[in-house]
Amino acid sequence: MANDPASSVEKDAAAVPSESADVAGLRRSVELLTQQVAELQKDNERLRHVEWFADSIFDNIPDMVFVKDAEHLRWVRLNRVAVEDYIGRPREWLIGRSDADVFPPEEAEFFNRIDRAVLASGKMLDVPEEACHTPRGIRYIHTKKIPLLDEQGVPRYLMGISHDITARKRVLQELEAKNGQLEEAIRSEQEAHHALKQAQSRMLQSEKLAALGSLVAGVAHEVNNPLAFVINNVAVLQRDFAEIIELLQLYREAETALGQADAQALQKIRAAAARMDVVYILENLQSTLARSREGLSRIQQIVRDLREFSRQEAVGTVQQGTELNTGIAATVNIVRGQAKSNGVELEMDLTPIPGITCSPSRINQVVLNILSNAIDASGNGGKVMIGTRAVDGGVEIWVQDSGPGIDPAVRDRIFDPFFTTKPQGKGTGLGLSISHGIVADHGGSIRFESTPGQGTCFTVFLPLVPARTEARIVK
Ligand SMILES: Nc1ncnc2c1ncn2[C@@H]1O[C@H](COP(=O)(O)OP(=O)(O)O)[C@@H](O)[C@H]1O
Ligand SMILES: [Mg+2]
Repeated sequence: MANDPASSVEKDAAAVPSESADVAGLRRSVELLTQQVAELQKDNERLRHVEWFADSIFDNIPDMVFVKDAEHLRWVRLNRVAVEDYIGRPREWLIGRSDADVFPPEEAEFFNRIDRAVLASGKMLDVPEEACHTPRGIRYIHTKKIPLLDEQGVPRYLMGISHDITARKRVLQELEAKNGQLEEAIRSEQEAHHALKQAQSRMLQSEKLAALGSLVAGVAHEVNNPLAFVINNVAVLQRDFAEIIELLQLYREAETALGQADAQALQKIRAAAARMDVVYILENLQSTLARSREGLSRIQQIVRDLREFSRQEAVGTVQQGTELNTGIAATVNIVRGQAKSNGVELEMDLTPIPGITCSPSRINQVVLNILSNAIDASGNGGKVMIGTRAVDGGVEIWVQDSGPGIDPAVRDRIFDPFFTTKPQGKGTGLGLSISHGIVADHGGSIRFESTPGQGTCFTVFLPLVPARTEARIVK
């Protein structure tokens, strides 16, 4: 086709041989034209090459690249990644369409809003993260939106370059989740460690108490035997002395007769009697012996209480039908000394209660802890009452004191191991935490009511039979 005009000119020139000058001119023009056409063809080819070159760069960019017209935001160019990976529609179909034709409405609306903002500002905008629905599911992209300005600085087009950050985002999310799990693991590890330490010290303390219990039981047992015969002997002494005194009385009555028979002997007897104050001895011997027996029976009671308190069952052994009142009375006797030195009056109100299944020595420990706290709280002139009562499904032991009450600020912490408000060396802060553990082991509960300035009442509930220990009952 490029040669057609030239050949037709040649034909015309041949048809008019007479006008040779014109023909020569024409021929020159034709040559010129032919030359120009050839150059145009070359230019065209160069242009096509440039276009191919630009297209192939554009198409081979591994990120999504698109260009929209500034007026309607319709696509004018899209590279292969945009067409194939992100939209999945033919390029010819896409040209002249916009986001609303392929993305869900809110997403298209979001993209449009940003596009308009970029065009209005005339500046590039970096959008670090956008969600985009694609045929491969939702992808997360990092997009740079660039306005393309004409010579007057008016935005004509908008170019977008989007890099897929889905994989990176997933890895980040996984890392965050892993991090969370790790933090959680560390936290529970720390909690377990803390709980273990607390359990360890509670165990140590209750082991110490158990060891102390068997020590006390051993001493009480050893003291009991000699005590029994001392008590017996004193009783015999008292009886025999009564008789000796009677005999002495008879001798004294015979003094006049003795003086007549042997005045010297009588004088010796009278001197000795004056020296040892026989009148006083005779008057007081009986009451001295009576007071000694009283003291001995008090010692006997203490020994009995100590034995009752530290009943020699194996630690944690549960006994059926335990009568709690006896153990409580024994424990009250044990803290009498503490009460007396603190100037605290102790009162008991033990009512008949059914026997329960429990570990008696451990319940005594609980009573001792609570009583001892109540005495500590009450102070000089104070009063502590302990009582028992039968309740639905079990028994209750209550201890009421006249102390200052428990500060509401520490209410929630008094059962914590090592929590104490007492001076160093006085409180360990373990009494209530151990008691709580023992009562919980029995399936029971400890509660308290406390009004600042009006004292505190602790109540221990114990079920008739603890559900959990049924299997360990010793018959
Ligand atoms: N009856 C009570 N009145 C007032 N505070 C009490 C009473 N019983 C317990 N508490 C408080 O609970 C804390 C913890 O008691 P406990 O565990 O027995 O440890 P400790 O007696 O060694 O301090 C006490 O230090 C005290 O502050
Ligand atoms: Mg205590």
